[in-house]
Amino acid sequence: MAEPILSPSALIAPDATVRSGAVVGANVRIGPRSVIGHGVVLHEDTVVGADVTVFDHAVLGRRPLGVGSMTRPPRTDLGPLRLGDGCVVGAGAVLYRGTTIGRETLLGDLCSIREECVVGDRCIIARGVTVNYATRIGHRVKIQDNTHLTGNMVIEDGVFVSVLVATTNDNSMDRGPHDPAKLGGPVIRRGASVGAGAVLLPGITIGEYAVVGAGAVVSQDVPPRQLVAGNPARVVKAVPAEWLPKEAAPPAALPPSLDLPEFIEAFAWELQIAPGPLTAATRLADIPRFDSMGRLAFMAMIDTRLGLVLDADALDGCATLGDLHDLVTKTGGG
Ligand SMILES: CC(C)(COP(=O)(O)OP(=O)(O)OC[C@H]1O[C@@H](n2cnc3c(N)ncnc32)[C@H](O)[C@@H]1OP(=O)(O)O)[C@@H](O)C(=O)NCCC(=O)NCCS
Repeated sequence: MAEPILSPSALIAPDATVRSGAVVGANVRIGPRSVIGHGVVLHEDTVVGADVTVFDHAVLGRRPLGVGSMTRPPRTDLGPLRLGDGCVVGAGAVLYRGTTIGRETLLGDLCSIREECVVGDRCIIARGVTVNYATRIGHRVKIQDNTHLTGNMVIEDGVFVSVLVATTNDNSMDRGPHDPAKLGGPVIRRGASVGAGAVLLPGITIGEYAVVGAGAVVSQDVPPRQLVAGNPARVVKAVPAEWLPKEAAPPAALPPSLDLPEFIEAFAWELQIAPGPLTAATRLADIPRFDSMGRLAFMAMIDTRLGLVLDADALDGCATLGDLHDLVTKTGGG
């Protein structure tokens, strides 16, 4: 294979290796001990940290190029691609300009990450994963093979996404006038897991440490620490305590004889409200997220923490926090 082609303006550490057939563009920087494989193309301005390995035929720092039929023309003022120390980039991976990858992150063979994305430290973005524009991925995130992460998604620290998961950001499916304000990818909160082949619809939020079963179609927000499954996804149960890391474990079981202020204080987190000005007269309809999914999650949580099975019809009949407290107390024999 031909010798590498090195731009005279590239800054390559003396102990870095650039193998035959590689092309290193203008102003590229390659850090100490990094190894650039055969046929790799480093486009202009790309910054490669120290101790990075880039396997054969990867393309780093490519510019997005729009055509007339695209609904979202790519930006032309993108900064360089930056790759942190200790990263590994698989063979044939394509990483776009304007994206930043943290330290010690592994990007699998043939994965592709579009412009304006941020990927944190110690992540694994496995083989064939495609990440669309402007998606933000936290630290220690694992995305398994052939999953598609849509544009404008947010994935927080410690999330696990299994194989072949499809995520979406546009309910109009390319019909009607293009309205960027209506394009919103899902949000996956800290420590959540998504099973193989799940489909996440636009704009939904998967709560902290929640679990999405394999093959689920998630059309509504998933409450924190709840397990959902099916099409459409419904709460099946609370995530078992042994699946939760220490910091996410639910508080110890509470006696059902809580008085109202204690009740509000104890369950404020699950109800997604702040304790304080709430009273027995607070209407459940005014509590964000206490919708049908929120009610199921509340029932699952009362079961987990108090060992009480609430009557679903009686729960539907509750109009206020006071009613809810009465129901829990009565169910507990209080
Ligand atoms: C969601 C999951 C974790 C639940 O496992 P579990 O706690 O053992 O669940 P259970 O077997 O107790 O199931 C509880 C109920 O939910 C149903 N259920 C469980 N997973 C389901 C799923 N993915 N889709 C539909 N229903 C499901 C079960 O049939 C059961 O219903 P039933 O009570 O009417 O019989 C598991 O089924 C799953 O989907 N795992 C994901 C595997 C995966 O993708 N791994 C990726 C790495 S390889």
